Amino acid sequence: MRLRLLRSPLLVALAAQSIGWLLAFAAARLGLVAGPWPLLALQAVAAAGMATLLHSPWWWIVLHLVFSPALVALHGLGLAPGWYLAAFVVLALVFGNPVRTRVPLFLSHRATIEALAALLPADRPFRFLDVGSGTGRVVVALARAFPQGEFTGIEQAILPHLIARWRGRGLPNLNLRRADAFALSWAGYDVLYAFLSPVPMPALWHKACAELSPGSLVCSNEFPIPGLVPEARVVPQATRRPLWLYRVV
Ligand SMILES: C[S@@+](CC[C@H](N)C(=O)[O-])C[C@H]1O[C@@H](n2cnc3c(N)ncnc32)[C@H](O)[C@@H]1O
Repeated sequence: MRLRLLRSPLLVALAAQSIGWLLAFAAARLGLVAGPWPLLALQAVAAAGMATLLHSPWWWIVLHLVFSPALVALHGLGLAPGWYLAAFVVLALVFGNPVRTRVPLFLSHRATIEALAALLPADRPFRFLDVGSGTGRVVVALARAFPQGEFTGIEQAILPHLIARWRGRGLPNLNLRRADAFALSWAGYDVLYAFLSPVPMPALWHKACAELSPGSLVCSNEFPIPGLVPEARVVPQATRRPLWLYRVV
């Protein structure tokens, strides 16, 4: 139970911030710090230190260092509460629920799409799935280039999904869905593409092996599947991000 709680990044962040504030208030009561900015600095360092002890990734530690000072600085600007709500809504539309997926939105390089295209059969039908298709950059380009292929993109965030629909309008061989890709079946796809993050890679491989047919190709942009030797690794010249290729057996 304790370990499961510590796997939730939000709970870890909440714990680090709370302990940071407890230490800062204790130091203030003991007269060790005086004034709002030294108090904030102490809270920030204590929260970041706590996050380090809890094995948070480096970007969380940076966030802890800036969180409380930024909150107080923003408060000083006297912005109407509606702006904070608007910022939250925009972030939710663009990123969906990254706390659950642990995957941010960033887009595949054109060179990666060209490398992927070189792996696809030019002379026969096939089915291609982009797990987390974002703004449709990959599936739209490939659906145009391979009219005999059938392309599916699944994206959980609303705004990227709508952009993908707009970009892919009129393409008869493109199917875009807004859903959790891990909740839908992957059966019947010949090629699976993912550009996610290190976190879901073990689950992705587990699901791919359970649902894809033997011989299907799994292509992961940048993030390898831990503990697995790839069939090949392609590094497009224009980007340093490798494309890791795995074959379902
Ligand atoms: C790094 S972006 C890649 C976008 C696109 N595939 C590309 O290469 O340009 C990853 C996308 O996957 C989406 N995503 C992450 N986990 C997902 C899930 N379980 N179901 C659906 N979409 C997911 C994110 O919302 C994000 O838009």
